[in-house]
Amino acid sequence: MTAQQEGNSTRAQLLERFPEEADITEEGELVIGGCPVSELAAQYGTPAYLVDEIGLRRQIRRFIDGLSARWPNSEVLFASKSLPCVAMYAIAQSEGLSVDVAGGGELVMALAAGVDPDRIYLHGNSKSDTEIQMALDAGIRGIVVDNFDDLDRLDRLATTRQGVLLRMIPGIETQTHASQATGGHDSKFGLPVDQLRQAIERVNASPLLRLDGIHVHVGSQILDSAPFASAVRSVAELGPFSTYDIGGGLGVPYTDGETAPSVEEYLDVIVAAARELLPASAKLMIEPGRSIVARAGITLYSVNTVKSTAKTFVAVDGGMADNLDIALTGQRYDAVIATRMTEPRTVLSDVVGRQCESGDLLVGEVKLSRPQRGDLLAMPMTGAYAYTMANNYNGALIPPIIFCAEGMSRLGAERQTYEDLLHLHRPALQGSW
Ligand code: LLP
Repeated sequence: MTAQQEGNSTRAQLLERFPEEADITEEGELVIGGCPVSELAAQYGTPAYLVDEIGLRRQIRRFIDGLSARWPNSEVLFASKSLPCVAMYAIAQSEGLSVDVAGGGELVMALAAGVDPDRIYLHGNSKSDTEIQMALDAGIRGIVVDNFDDLDRLDRLATTRQGVLLRMIPGIETQTHASQATGGHDSKFGLPVDQLRQAIERVNASPLLRLDGIHVHVGSQILDSAPFASAVRSVAELGPFSTYDIGGGLGVPYTDGETAPSVEEYLDVIVAAARELLPASAKLMIEPGRSIVARAGITLYSVNTVKSTAKTFVAVDGGMADNLDIALTGQRYDAVIATRMTEPRTVLSDVVGRQCESGDLLVGEVKLSRPQRGDLLAMPMTGAYAYTMANNYNGALIPPIIFCAEGMSRLGAERQTYEDLLHLHRPALQGSW
């Protein structure tokens, strides 16, 4: 191996969990989509969510092309709860992804981004009348019915023909965090098989509802492909339909200790089961979220203080307000000092956030290279389920999303401001208390 090759393979290793279009400068600084992170920090501030737009679009195409090559009558829906922002909906639309929305807010953003209503599906175990009405008014392609109350209201509110999918509880337990498992018998999502059969009869008897097929989603961050074959098996057992949606859930490797099936392996497993069990003419749908966006995104923080007490605490200017997932699921992430990517990582540190919770630990016991106040710290693999759960705990402001491609950066969503925070409190500000 030449010195050059050796350098490249070390670089590749260092960047394994970073976006596809990430690089390291000669000085050891992280670059996303051709933009050095120090320049992004100077322009947009921190904390900030950075997205590699080219890598993201490439990953979208892997899903769409991969599924249609294996099963031409197919549709890939972006589970938009994983990154609900107008820019992302627009990218989904431009690359040929359909989208699923989990409620009125996501529907509004998808429509505002110009997503074709014929490519939108509405989910939810607790839809309001207003949300059902919004979906009907927009003329979206499908409503995923979770319960009999959904059916009652659709019967009452629909005035033209509306396609529906019925969500089943498959009774599949998956090896994932309890908050991410949705397929077990006691799941709050969907109906068990006996009730689902009644729901099928109800829809078939309804003058305006059109039963397109069955939906199932067995869980999230699934690192083994067997549950996806089980998902196909469970929907197949209900008989022939024109559409089968087997949900999302493909996991991603957040750290070196995790491995996940590739998109191709995942699609092979699903399609092999579909060829065996589903009608050849049926439409096959999947709803990946995390596996589309996770790797494309990183979070960039500034280090506010480094303190060595019982441990070395590296405290950044964000925390569980911009990445709640960690406190909810215990998911382990990696963190690096973004301007010293190639230096040895020698200082065992707890990267902590600024929220007033001891549980606000972003990454425990991670080795960093000489962490100091003022450093930029990057957490890779935060493209999914970070922005979407961002909140105002301790008055934190929701960070911006910056899309980077070929050395250019643009804002997808602005940073919230203190004025935004006060905006909702106008009634209180106007009154005396
Ligand atoms: N379809 C349905 C009906 C879902 O409920 C979900 C995720 C997906 C698709 C997309 O799953 P994915 O491909 O992203 O795994 N807050 C948790 C994740 C909850 C996922 C909820 N449902 C976390 O941060 O891990």
